[in-house]
Amino acid sequence: MSHFNLILLFFSTIFINTSYGQEPSIVDDILPDIKRIGETGMLNCTVARLGTNAVTWSFSNSNQLLSRGEVINVENKEIEGLKRFEIKKHGSSDRITFTLIVRFLQEDDAGRYICSIETVGSSPENYPKKYGFITVLSPPKISLSMTTTRVELKLGGSKILMCNSSGIPSPNITWVRTNGELLPNLKYSNKNPVLKLTNVRSEDQGVYRCVADNTVRPPDHLDVRVYIISPPMVSYVQDTVGQAQNGKYSAVLECKVSSYPDAVLSWYKKKSRGREKLTDTDKYEIQKLQSSNLRLGETWYKLKVKNVQANDYGTYYCVGANTEGEQETQIILFETAECQGPNCPSPTGSVSTLKVYKSILFILGVCYIFLIPDITFVL
Ligand SMILES: *[C@@H]1O[C@H](CO)[C@@H](O)[C@H](O)[C@H]1NC(C)=O
Ligand SMILES: *[C@@H]1O[C@H](CO)[C@@H](O)[C@H](O)[C@H]1NC(C)=O
Ligand SMILES: *[C@@H]1O[C@H](CO)[C@@H](O)[C@H](O)[C@H]1NC(C)=O
Repeated sequence: MSHFNLILLFFSTIFINTSYGQEPSIVDDILPDIKRIGETGMLNCTVARLGTNAVTWSFSNSNQLLSRGEVINVENKEIEGLKRFEIKKHGSSDRITFTLIVRFLQEDDAGRYICSIETVGSSPENYPKKYGFITVLSPPKISLSMTTTRVELKLGGSKILMCNSSGIPSPNITWVRTNGELLPNLKYSNKNPVLKLTNVRSEDQGVYRCVADNTVRPPDHLDVRVYIISPPMVSYVQDTVGQAQNGKYSAVLECKVSSYPDAVLSWYKKKSRGREKLTDTDKYEIQKLQSSNLRLGETWYKLKVKNVQANDYGTYYCVGANTEGEQETQIILFETAECQGPNCPSPTGSVSTLKVYKSILFILGVCYIFLIPDITFVL
């Protein structure tokens, strides 16, 4: 670089600085503001050497001039005694901050705001300008219209569950099963709005929950009930049940049936030839239980065998049947020496009697050990 060029650069720098020094300017970057719906957003535009020029705020989205100086230029509703828009001016004559205040923020207040200085003798393209952003956070919301909440599938069938949501920032979607079981992809959760159910099995029946979270409280969720049309799944609660005979004691046999469509449940007892169907009688009580702990499509059944006798021991069958087929499980009732279960006659009396007997025996034993030798000695 020649000396001449350096000198030119030196002078031009001085020239630019001086002319810049006389012009009004926006001195700091405008910090963005992030607020929730209903809260108040604020953007600061700090200017130097304003002179007689005017500071304006406008909104890019609507291309509207919001304010000039401290005067609001748009319709300015008053809510709860407060204006939606307001300009607050602070600072000395050399450095003045024009704060744009937007109250009761709505989703469409989010966007780019422009602060500029209407400089006399300059064209609008050359006005000093800076941009400020207001982000309006909104909690997640799952749109019901796009989502089915009930699905029926045949065994081996497939279906795509979709969870569409809105919210700012855009929510993360997670699919889980409400009973804590695995999803079809063999994971406990799926971070994707789309959940593919493919080649479904009976075990896939259940409630699938889509959770939308964007850290703005509260998160939203939606439950999709998935029914698999298949033969019932029948399982015992305990495969053996013990009870003593001839004590007017009852035995309770329990089984669970998971089925869609609903199953008809029957109890049978094994006989030397074939089986006998059991019905509600003096001997048997058949119950269908409701419980919130059960899984989707699951029902809990109880068979109470009253006043257990010798001929009640043996094999029982719990059989579930629906339009798709039939399945069963076995439960064995066996003999025990003492009464089993919570409804036995209070055992406290016999236990304490037993304790007394044991204590007496112990004392007698002690006496025997210590006294007998003396007796023999004496003898
Ligand atoms: C905006 O300016 C006001 C007054 O100078 C100040 O109290 C406030 O903290 C500023 N806000 C931001 C976000 O800079
Ligand atoms: C719902 O989500 C799916 C997958 O993300 C997308 O393809 C679809 O356009 C969304 N529909 C709506 C109405 O947002
Ligand atoms: C979505 O999940 C990712 C990864 O866990 C996380 O970094 C991000 O902050 C989440 N986004 C929202 C909006 O919560």
